[in-house]
Amino acid sequence: MGTYHIKDKHSYTQNYKTSIEDPETFWGTIAKDNFSWKRPWNRVLDWDFSTPKVSWFEGAQLNITENCIDRHLDGNGDKTAILFEPNDPNAASEAISYKELHKRVNKFANILKSKGIQKGDRVCVYLPMIPELAISILACARIGAIHSVVFAGFSATALASRINDCDCKMLITSDGGYRGAKTIDLKSIADEALLECSGIESVLVVKRLHSEIPMVKDRDFWLQPLLEDASELCDAEVMDAEDPLFILYTSGSTGQPKGMVHTTAGYMVYAAYSFKNIFQYEPDDIYWCTADIGWITGHSYIVYGPLLNGATTVMFEGVPSYPDYGRFWSIVEKHKVTQFYTAPTAIRALAKEGLEVVEPYDISSLKIIGTVGEPINEEAWHWYNDHIGKRKCPIVDTWWQTETGGIMISPIPNSFEGKPTFATLPFVGVIPALMDENGIELKGNSVEGRLCIKFPWPSMARTIWGNHQRYKETYFSAYDNMYFTGDGALRDENGHYRITGRVDDVIIVSGHNLGTAPIEDAINEHPAVAESAIVGYPHHIKGSALYGYVTLKNANNSSEALKAEINQLISKQIGPIAKLNKIQFTTGLPKTRSGKIMRRILRKIASKDTSNLGDISTLLNPEVVEMIMENSQ
Ligand code: WTA
Repeated sequence: MGTYHIKDKHSYTQNYKTSIEDPETFWGTIAKDNFSWKRPWNRVLDWDFSTPKVSWFEGAQLNITENCIDRHLDGNGDKTAILFEPNDPNAASEAISYKELHKRVNKFANILKSKGIQKGDRVCVYLPMIPELAISILACARIGAIHSVVFAGFSATALASRINDCDCKMLITSDGGYRGAKTIDLKSIADEALLECSGIESVLVVKRLHSEIPMVKDRDFWLQPLLEDASELCDAEVMDAEDPLFILYTSGSTGQPKGMVHTTAGYMVYAAYSFKNIFQYEPDDIYWCTADIGWITGHSYIVYGPLLNGATTVMFEGVPSYPDYGRFWSIVEKHKVTQFYTAPTAIRALAKEGLEVVEPYDISSLKIIGTVGEPINEEAWHWYNDHIGKRKCPIVDTWWQTETGGIMISPIPNSFEGKPTFATLPFVGVIPALMDENGIELKGNSVEGRLCIKFPWPSMARTIWGNHQRYKETYFSAYDNMYFTGDGALRDENGHYRITGRVDDVIIVSGHNLGTAPIEDAINEHPAVAESAIVGYPHHIKGSALYGYVTLKNANNSSEALKAEINQLISKQIGPIAKLNKIQFTTGLPKTRSGKIMRRILRKIASKDTSNLGDISTLLNPEVVEMIMENSQ
């Protein structure tokens, strides 16, 4: 049996033990006792990592929005579901109750239907952090359409490739968005993308900036007038447990982004249960996660996890630096936030501004503070603990991935303590393993290796949209019968895990995963460029930053202007988040005799760690290493 609330160390130990020894009974009990189902399952779990195939609660039927909204209406209909804090600190915040959310989701769902969207259709959502972003994905889920949210910082090219990859029929966007002192013109980016997307039949446009924008006749529709006529009632579509709920793209080490597919029931159960326990959510809490809903953190821990628990979830439109670096803490004070969840890169950026921007605010409402997205360094952890948590709030350093759907390794406040830079212990149901390079599992404590997961958990992604073979190769082929995370980790003498970082060519810049291959492809499109290689190097705020080695067809063309052109090209193909911090023009790149670029050496040079470059004599062109070192930045 399992208990929904993990209250203390004993209950963590008990729940963990049952979840491992008898996962079907454990998750079956949690699922049955805490959610509403239209039909029970035939079998809790069916799995085979070699195919790979995983299904949870097969045969069950449900709709996740009834669990997120409808079932709270009777007792908690007037409670605030979404607390929207706009970019402009002088504009009013908006409290959307569960009742109001119900109406708005239903209306939106009816509009989707009226535009021909049916169960199973894909709908792309490209919106800033405004309530319609949460409402539109819930509206999709209400009618069984599969949402694919694309972060509003991505470029037209990146948006188009994501729309086409999963054949979206509709795009939901806005006339623009506010981001600090700037505005972003989303509709014109969307229009440019749509030149490449023949599958899009209609575009719903939310008014946010009230700016004049071109609308394409019979394709583009303003949302507001449609809402006025839409009915507030919309029956929730009956969904099978394993019907896809959403697709979310994440970078791979090679090739194009992968459309991770999450399904309905298992995702729901795990997102809800992990939210409840890792944030120790209580009914009067005001919970705030600063992520964007364009990323998995926003899906699971701004929208689904909190709403499934009937919580109040804060949604913030702006940025931490606007109108000044005190903004986060002013919001914590204003709404008496109890749980605050952010990224190490934000903590470092705020710590740099000094305590003058923290001290004016009363942040004593905080009970638990969290981080996600990349390893948190010791200094940032202590600053967060001392100055934000005031040494009384447990820090939950939560390790997980787009692919895992929910938090996998994290402290559980009240059950055991965190330790600086350690994600600590696996969450209930999670069985981690560390593997050495020969595929042997490292048993016991005080070991370091590649992090794998040995057993299915309910919210794992089931496939890559349209490419199950790639799913198998990326996650289930490195080691037999294990899910490979792509991360390295160590297990200390007490069995606590510390994530050491990616072991593949994914670089995490300010918490955003970036694959090197698409960036290199973008650079190589420049007519002056012969070839390029991107590596990450340590950066005091971003965690990692990008260093590009670029070989030109004609070395005489190197110039600052060309560097700017290269970054523009990257911005256009991917988005400004993928711009390079440093660019070094090279006469060649170090290669193995089989022609493979030796990134290990380039990484060391970029990190200014050249004391031990290893044996370079076996390279095809050892002489370039010296030249690259001389000119490094
Ligand atoms: C990294 C974000 C260390 C890791 C939820 C992982 C972390 C990748 C942590 C997934 C953490 C995430 N400590 N590293 N607490 N959390 N990561 O898909 O490398 O955007 O594989 O999901 O971020 O990033 P993604």
